Amino acid sequence: MSEPTERAGSGAGALPDEGFVRRAIERIEAAESLEGLEAAETELLGRRSALAGAQKALGSLDPAERAGAGQRLQARRREVAAAIAERRRALTEVARRARVAADRLDLTEVTEAPWRGHLHLVQRTRDELEDVFVGMGFTVAEGPEVETDWYNFEALNLPPAHPARSMWDTMYLKLGEPETVVLRTHTSPVQIRLLQRQPPPVYAVIPGKCYRRDTPDARHIPTFHQIEGLVVDHGISFADLAGTIETFTGAYFGPHIHSRLRPSYFPFTEPSAEFEVTCTICGGAGCRTCSQTGWVELGGCGMVDPNVFAAVGVDPEEWSGFAFGFGIDRCAQMRHEIPDMRVLLENDARLLRQI
Ligand code: FA5
Repeated sequence: MSEPTERAGSGAGALPDEGFVRRAIERIEAAESLEGLEAAETELLGRRSALAGAQKALGSLDPAERAGAGQRLQARRREVAAAIAERRRALTEVARRARVAADRLDLTEVTEAPWRGHLHLVQRTRDELEDVFVGMGFTVAEGPEVETDWYNFEALNLPPAHPARSMWDTMYLKLGEPETVVLRTHTSPVQIRLLQRQPPPVYAVIPGKCYRRDTPDARHIPTFHQIEGLVVDHGISFADLAGTIETFTGAYFGPHIHSRLRPSYFPFTEPSAEFEVTCTICGGAGCRTCSQTGWVELGGCGMVDPNVFAAVGVDPEEWSGFAFGFGIDRCAQMRHEIPDMRVLLENDARLLRQI
């Protein structure tokens, strides 16, 4: 009986020929993945494969031929199995490399750093002003934003019904007797609290939030910030006040900004002055921001009125002092040349990023 020479997989029982191994190896080499190789293995060596069919068919061969045919069959099976094992090694290595590449952490990769916020310009200005005054030997104090009428007005030489109370458009809180509790209109009440807390000498600045029923415009917002200054010691004169303001202007704005003091009136200082700087928006030529005057008022100042000392039990014969109160938002506005102060409250991220 001659040896059947059929193609691989061409029917159970046929002994695969020489070409079977070549085609099987092509099939194995063509497998692109371990899963593909698995399928090829089942097809070539599995229970329904041509080799399994031929194995079964051996039994029907003539015993004299059976041994030789069996050996050839086994040799082909081994060749196919070896090719599968080799391909499996290669594919396993490819898969391992792909996994390593996917897991690789590229420490040199440049990624965009997340955008970090920064302090609001008003807070930065407050910090800078504090630094300037601390550098001049002042300490920093604070006081409450909700005040009684007594601290906000009366102790500052503004008795009830005093006409100068109309200088401040006050916001009252519905607490206690009507019009006795206010959102402080300035930081000056902290002068009183400080002098109650500690005897002179005092060299302090007091930054904080203030509230007024002011109509918002280029230079006014209803919630704004002031920094108060209070100096009480032996022999303090107006020259000390003028010198302090001059030093502050140079330190904060730089030498190119001019300042001037103009006579003014505040019930808690005598004499009193207004402190102005050249408008940085127009350079002094006159514009909407400075109401065409070329100057912008930063604050008020003066020598502490003896009635204020009397309210807190400080002897005006022994002690003298000066006080000032500047707008922090105004300082920021002039230093950063912001034509309209209202933008400081609008929280437009495009602006906040710049300043
Ligand atoms: C006062 O408030 C006085 N307490 C200042 C003072 C203190 C005088 C100590 C004497 C001794 P005035 O109302 O002028 O003063 O305000 C002072 C500054 O606060 C102004 O020059 C301005 O810079 C700022 N300011 C006042 N109102 C507003 C507002 N609505 N918006 C922004 N800034 C304001």
